Amino acid sequence: MLSEDPTKKSLTELGVTDAVQLAHRFYELRARFQRELARASEGEGWERLRDEWVGPEGSVQSRILANWIRTAPEHLKAGLVQDLQNFINEVFILSAVLQPLDQLRATDAAKIESQFRNLRGLFDREVKECRDEVDLGITERFWISPKSGVLKHIAANWRKTAPRDLVPSIGREENKLKAHITREIAERRATLESGAEESALARERIDLSLPGVIRPIGSHHLIRQVFQEIEDIFFSIGFSVVEGPEIETPYYNFEALNIPEFHPVRDDMDTFYLELPLFSDKNAAKTPLLLRTHTSPMQIRTMEKQKPPVRVIVPGKVYRRDNPDATHSFAFHQIEGLAVDTDITFCDFTGTIEYFVKQFFGPSVKTRFRPSYFPFTEPSVEFDVSCPFCGGTGAAAAGGTCSKCKGAAWIELFGAGMVDPAVYGFVNYDAKKVSGFAFGIGIDRLAMLKYGIDDIQVFFQNDVRFLKQFP
Ligand code: PHE
Repeated sequence: MLSEDPTKKSLTELGVTDAVQLAHRFYELRARFQRELARASEGEGWERLRDEWVGPEGSVQSRILANWIRTAPEHLKAGLVQDLQNFINEVFILSAVLQPLDQLRATDAAKIESQFRNLRGLFDREVKECRDEVDLGITERFWISPKSGVLKHIAANWRKTAPRDLVPSIGREENKLKAHITREIAERRATLESGAEESALARERIDLSLPGVIRPIGSHHLIRQVFQEIEDIFFSIGFSVVEGPEIETPYYNFEALNIPEFHPVRDDMDTFYLELPLFSDKNAAKTPLLLRTHTSPMQIRTMEKQKPPVRVIVPGKVYRRDNPDATHSFAFHQIEGLAVDTDITFCDFTGTIEYFVKQFFGPSVKTRFRPSYFPFTEPSVEFDVSCPFCGGTGAAAAGGTCSKCKGAAWIELFGAGMVDPAVYGFVNYDAKKVSGFAFGIGIDRLAMLKYGIDDIQVFFQNDVRFLKQFP
């Protein structure tokens, strides 16, 4: 057995590099000691065994000092010394309680008491060293395990072999020691637990002085901001907002707006039809679906739903099969406007538009309209605004022509007109009693003009460097 004694080798040779492996080595030593102890019979056997393990020379202890501790890596040294100390204690304790009392020369009550006092001192030292629940469990088992604890050995070896007159004082001391051990262990356990709690609390404490996770608050997209600006202007004169579907039927997008199937203006609105099952439209006909080419279908949907007076604006996205360039995109934004009542005149129409344009671009701009054509308005017009950037002069302040209006002094704004009486026929309004106007403002163009943006594509790229400029 000694030939394979691990204490003859260094920790490096044993491949022990951490505290867990070290603890395992001590566990093996302890088991070996207990086996040998069980075999050693009384008297001389004890003495020899004790010398073999903890004697001053050639003992397990001296080998541990020489082979393990001296060459141990620095981070293991302190723990190693402590482990050895505990181990030596155990050897002393066990070798004492495994002998009959007379071998220890405890022949009267006073000497018995002093034996118990020694044990208690050793226990007290040990329990104080317990750093965690695992240590404590080992100590607890070592002292009071019903099978092989120190107290069990005392009962078996000391009390059983004692002269009758000493038995009662041994029993009393046993009880005192057991009560002491039980109490101390419970106390130590409580301390460890609250300590564990405290250190966990200290570890997990929230440091309120640390900066938090910063989630930047975004802002509305410039298009959304322009929508809002325009909505506010129309709110102030009694319009309300309605929204409608971006997927439409040809009926709402075209027919009800007085654009029959082979009408040439459909060419301008060459658009996206969806590969979806045919849809039963309002008139129960099976029709394909398309992405709306303008917000005007909402004129029809609104008038279908409500009787005059109608005063609505319709912000939204629209789609056309346009090739993207600096001024074209397959998706863009419009605000539709519609006012219908029994007495709406062309003056109300131009007055409303002028009010809006002055609110949006500033009071000094002028408006004008030119005749135009839309199938659903009659007469139809194109509204222009005097260029707000050059003051309607067409000349740039720094000389040369104004880059916004290209020297024209006017900027084309949007299409509009008085609602064509034919449209009322589609929504069961009496064309003889009602009149109204409608307009369709391209938001992207307006935003580009007002904020000096020269490429419509930036609205759809979501580049934060662009978006951040409009907080
Ligand atoms: N819907 C038309 C377009 O997109 C604009 C418009 C709306 C014209 C309302 C007149 C009245 O071009």
